[in-house]
Amino acid sequence: MLASLRPALLLTLAIGAPAFGQRFKNPDTLGPDVPTPPQVIERMLSAAHLKPNETVYDLGCGEGRVLIMAVQKFKARGVGIELSRDIYEQTLSRIKSMGLDQQISIVHGNALHYDLSPADVVTLYFLTSSNDRLKPVLERYLKPTARVVSHDYEIRGWKPSIKDTVEVSGRTHTIFVYNIGNKNPE
Ligand SMILES: C[S@@+](CC[C@H](N)C(=O)[O-])C[C@H]1O[C@@H](n2cnc3c(N)ncnc32)[C@H](O)[C@@H]1O
Repeated sequence: MLASLRPALLLTLAIGAPAFGQRFKNPDTLGPDVPTPPQVIERMLSAAHLKPNETVYDLGCGEGRVLIMAVQKFKARGVGIELSRDIYEQTLSRIKSMGLDQQISIVHGNALHYDLSPADVVTLYFLTSSNDRLKPVLERYLKPTARVVSHDYEIRGWKPSIKDTVEVSGRTHTIFVYNIGNKNPE
């Protein structure tokens, strides 16, 4: 029955927006492992104007598909931060078996406590309430030229430079792009 639910609904059910800290064993969990469809990833990275040799940080990288596309289609580099040890180990081994470990680093860690200062583009797929928790980290570390792209969930208090939608299998995915140097325009 759950398999027939749409991913955004599943994500919402799994996290439970106001009480997500009580729903997960680990209170640092910002979202469950629900991957972003490739069509959405491509639009996210294009909308962020990802350029060759720039560095993408995917916070909560799951199986690494954002980073793999960033390297293969955009000739960028990737860093993934993943809280779950099992997912981290599987993704690390996948990246190695694909021969992408020179371009992609996977870190087992908590995105809430990580230095993001080298990032040119940061990608997120967490609920809005989780983005509230990440916002001070993004504000602390990101350089003015950095862009943050969030799948489906906004960052409250910031003004997106782009809000776009992508249809995949009958479901509408929303993309929010924020330019760090211009996230609070008058
Ligand atoms: C919704 S999935 C997104 C996966 C991938 N970014 C994508 O878009 O395909 C969220 C991932 O974030 C991980 N995660 C949750 N809380 C985290 C945290 N505090 N730090 C790092 N990873 C986290 C989960 O284990 C899961 O793999």
